Amino acid sequence: MSYTIALAGKGGTGKSTVATLIIRYLTEELGKSTLAVDADPNSTLGLSLGVKVDSTIADIRDDVVEKKVDIPASMSKDRYIEYAIENSIVEEKKFDLLTMGRPEGPKCYCYANNLLRKYLDKAEQSYPFIVIDNEAGMEHLSRRTTNDVDLLIIAFEATIIGVHTAARITELLGTLPIEIKKKVYVMCKVPGKGASERVESEIASSGFEVSSRLPFDDEIYDYITSGESLLGIKSDNTVYVEVKKLIASSINGES
Ligand SMILES: Nc1ncnc2c1ncn2[C@@H]1O[C@H](COP(=O)(O)OP(=O)(O)OP(=O)(O)O)[C@@H](O)[C@H]1O
Ligand SMILES: [Mg+2]
Repeated sequence: MSYTIALAGKGGTGKSTVATLIIRYLTEELGKSTLAVDADPNSTLGLSLGVKVDSTIADIRDDVVEKKVDIPASMSKDRYIEYAIENSIVEEKKFDLLTMGRPEGPKCYCYANNLLRKYLDKAEQSYPFIVIDNEAGMEHLSRRTTNDVDLLIIAFEATIIGVHTAARITELLGTLPIEIKKKVYVMCKVPGKGASERVESEIASSGFEVSSRLPFDDEIYDYITSGESLLGIKSDNTVYVEVKKLIASSINGES
């Protein structure tokens, strides 16, 4: 069975950045085969991993539902979908990447989500780690893109809205039939002077503890603005070092 790490949080907080650094740590430093899943319809994980994505689950859904492909007579629809999903996975040396993509029209999310979930159930047998980068907000949690999760990372910015969103995600989690073994709160893009007192007091009254504080980082900014893969940042980059600490302690069962 895989150890599944998923990310949740408001848009633009730093989820994909953190997911990319986790994937680097798991594959390069722990040598673990990892399935990276971009479950955000506005796919960007491939970009930050430096991987070109040609086909997505949404494409497969559109092909099948809108009958844009002729499924061979010898193949059932389910078998064809399984085969097409396997083909859509980009295999890199150290990780594989599966991309959800954007299905056409809101009603189509259900079908594409089911395909993703079914595939993830199967992938549990093959990968020691699965890292799921989710879309912004809480929609995906309600739609249950994310199955049971060993570690949910709730990313939020050092702002009042950021803290409120993290608190709302926490409330929503309590109402969903998803098993989350552990959840941690990660403050992202923290300014050099630290979070304001007001933000700290909002966190205290929201009742959650921050496991990791990732500073706003110039090297990450430079990488992202030059369009290069974030996998290339220095191994002693402060944000990377913090992400490593967080994942190491989480997977070793420390609090
Ligand atoms: N610690 C950091 N230092 C500097 N820039 C950062 C940091 N973390 C994230 N960023 C930048 O902030 C922007 C948003 O980050 P990212 O794409 O990781 O967020 P996201 O939560 O995945 O967003 P979305 O919800 O749109 O998918 C990116 O330009 C990214 O490079
Ligand atoms: Mg993202």
